[in-house]
Amino acid sequence: MNNFKKKIKRILRRILGRPEPPMRKAPDRLPDDVDAAVRKNGLETDGFIRVVESDMDFDGCYLTAWTALDNKGIYFILGDEKVTKKRGNKKIKSEYELREIRSYPLSDFDSLKCEQYVSTGRLIAEKDGDDIGLIKFSLNFLGGYDELCKAFNSLKTGEPMPQSSEKPNGGVCPKCKRPYPPGRSSCPKCDKNGSTVKRLFSFFGGYKLQMALIVTAILISTAMNMAMPQISTKTLFDDVLSKVGSTPAQQLLVTLGYLIGAVVGMKLLGLIMTVSFQFLMGSIMPRVIYDIKVKIFAAMQRLSVGFYSSKQTGSLMERVTRDSNNIYWFFVDGLPYVITNVITVVGVLIIMFVMSWKLALLCCAAAPIFLVLLVFGGRFFRTLHHRSWARNARLTSMVSDNINGQRIIKAFSKEDEELDRFDAVSSDLYKADLKLNNSEATLFPVLTILLSMLAVVMLTFGGLMVANGEMTVGTLLNFTVYLTMLVGPLDFLSWVSNWWARCVDSAQRVFEIVDAEPEIVEKEHPIEIGEVRGDIEISKLEFEYEPAQPVIKNLDLKVNAGQMLGIVGKTGAGKTTIANLIARLYDPKAGCVKIDGVDVRDLPLDTIRKNVGLVSQDIYLFIGTIADNIRYAKPDATMDEIIAAAKAASAHDFIMKLPDAYETRVGAGGHDLSGGERQRISIARTIIQNPRILILDEATAAMDTETERNIQYSLTKLMQGRTTVAIAHRLSTLRDADMLAVISEGEVVEYGSYAELLKKRGEFYKLYKIQADALKAVGIID
Ligand SMILES: Nc1ncnc2c1ncn2[C@@H]1O[C@H](COP(=O)(O)OP(=O)(O)OP(=O)(O)O)[C@@H](O)[C@H]1O
Ligand SMILES: [Mg+2]
Repeated sequence: MNNFKKKIKRILRRILGRPEPPMRKAPDRLPDDVDAAVRKNGLETDGFIRVVESDMDFDGCYLTAWTALDNKGIYFILGDEKVTKKRGNKKIKSEYELREIRSYPLSDFDSLKCEQYVSTGRLIAEKDGDDIGLIKFSLNFLGGYDELCKAFNSLKTGEPMPQSSEKPNGGVCPKCKRPYPPGRSSCPKCDKNGSTVKRLFSFFGGYKLQMALIVTAILISTAMNMAMPQISTKTLFDDVLSKVGSTPAQQLLVTLGYLIGAVVGMKLLGLIMTVSFQFLMGSIMPRVIYDIKVKIFAAMQRLSVGFYSSKQTGSLMERVTRDSNNIYWFFVDGLPYVITNVITVVGVLIIMFVMSWKLALLCCAAAPIFLVLLVFGGRFFRTLHHRSWARNARLTSMVSDNINGQRIIKAFSKEDEELDRFDAVSSDLYKADLKLNNSEATLFPVLTILLSMLAVVMLTFGGLMVANGEMTVGTLLNFTVYLTMLVGPLDFLSWVSNWWARCVDSAQRVFEIVDAEPEIVEKEHPIEIGEVRGDIEISKLEFEYEPAQPVIKNLDLKVNAGQMLGIVGKTGAGKTTIANLIARLYDPKAGCVKIDGVDVRDLPLDTIRKNVGLVSQDIYLFIGTIADNIRYAKPDATMDEIIAAAKAASAHDFIMKLPDAYETRVGAGGHDLSGGERQRISIARTIIQNPRILILDEATAAMDTETERNIQYSLTKLMQGRTTVAIAHRLSTLRDADMLAVISEGEVVEYGSYAELLKKRGEFYKLYKIQADALKAVGIID
């Protein structure tokens, strides 16, 4: 049944074009249940080098398959995973039902490769030039099979086995033996809600005294509320009103006075306690939320660039703002009332049974009707609330999209279409809200009518008991009051579980960031190289953003200290990726980047950040003044240094024309600068950093020819004595490069000096010719 559900989900995902879940990477052992089933069949699993899970057999039929490799052969383990025990929706014990194992000795195939189709992949074996189709799989398993192919091929050729991208320690869940999803350090499947809740409450650890006071205040205020009918109803009727005429008026007045005093006192005490716990909770929560936000933000600073572009992280902003607010509101507005309401329900039920167990049983008999209404009504309203929320979120993103895209909307005069788009989304929201309000307006009167009917039945029975002398009038009235006291808390508790689920869900998302491990970490004992000379050597470099989609393939490059290397190539060739790998914003999949002969992964991160200056293609200016943005790399830079850097970057003149010169505010909400102006500020920022290695990624692309010429002069001065890697589309800017590399699809296809490459009449010449012809066509050169 579980397998059937999986299949349906996969098929639906494909039909709807939804992304497949995150890729799994190959560990080197099978999960316990599969391992046991395989061993029972006589296959030894200890020698496995690579193991990949997948979801289809050789014909593309869905099942749970494992492909394993050892020194002798390759094995396809085909079977079904059956869940033997379930708790809620969570499977807690699974058993692997083996269908068959297909074994092929290594000698059967020459090499293995993966083929990628629209939504599936296939493992292909090559033998004497022929292709043999092996197992099929959904595309999300491609990464694992790609690693398996590499391991197989290196076994065949006798080359050293490539390292599995799976981290050797801590990458696999100790419970289910499955690898953690990328970027996670815990297993979301085995993670219990309980541990999240425990961690959430651990944030309150520093406020034990305040928490104890809050719980005491809640208990007292609830007790006051519950005791109130006892005095205001029962005692009033039985000891005062029913005795009018039989007891002297003065004595009754004294009792009445005591009663009023007690009621006022109790109300006052209850009120003070309520205000106190609300005040205390309100004063702790902002601090707890502050701690949580600082934790998330600190974790975000620790994480590598790759984490931010990874699709599964979703919107990080939401986690810092909305998720922590969800937690905030539950604790301030929800938790105290959960405690109050639970105590009220339990307390009232006990009081009712003590007063009259017969009437209490009668009420309990009617309780299922109310519970069913509240639970199903709650679920129904939750769906309606969610629909309204989702449509509201859609409307918000539509409005934000519209505001950000105003220039394009005006340029294409699409105002009317935008209005229609807004109208459609907005009317969806209106319909959802209307249905929600109408339904609420129906359910609550129904509940009130049912409650009144129960009260009538109870009064009838109660009346009979009063007539028989089994109960006083005061007790009966008291009973009615207590009954109505149950409705509010039961209603609250029926929907608060949803709120709690949302809070735990938010907490899980928050902890996901806090627990995420940065991909780029400094070695425990990095190699200190002192003063950096600036030699760069790239050898056999391989890199991919997405598994099995190589961006850099076996790339070798060398730049001697103080020299300039120009990199050219078509868009998407991998130029920026090379820059990112030199600056160690990412780590390569294979091969290495060396600075002064030391692998960048062995250097202290600080050495790299200080000595590698990157003028990036995507320029980002922080909210602040221009001076702040220039001194970003060196916060203690003097104003003279800032001006000197700006002059060197040809930025001084335009900065002086701005309303507040260097104090002009830029970034979001600040002064708008042109692309070229922003580039010059970012060059000044790098100049002030004074790095030994300068990487210019399209540093002058957004400038006019004259500014470019000016800045080229400053850049030439800046490059003196530094190693420079300059990436440019405009070939004229690379005339002075000592060496040029033409990159195509992640590989160096040509290498040599400007003149040599032109003479060679190859790829570089082609690029040169295209640009020269284009410039001739617009009359810029003859
Ligand atoms: N963060 C990312 N995640 C996934 N793929 C990426 C990412 N960044 C780049 N790519 C892909 O990697 C390939 C190389 O990109 P890169 O930015 O290195 O190209 P480039 O040569 O600098 O191009 P351009 O000249 O347009 O700047 C492209 O196909 C691109 O789509
Ligand atoms: Mg680029």
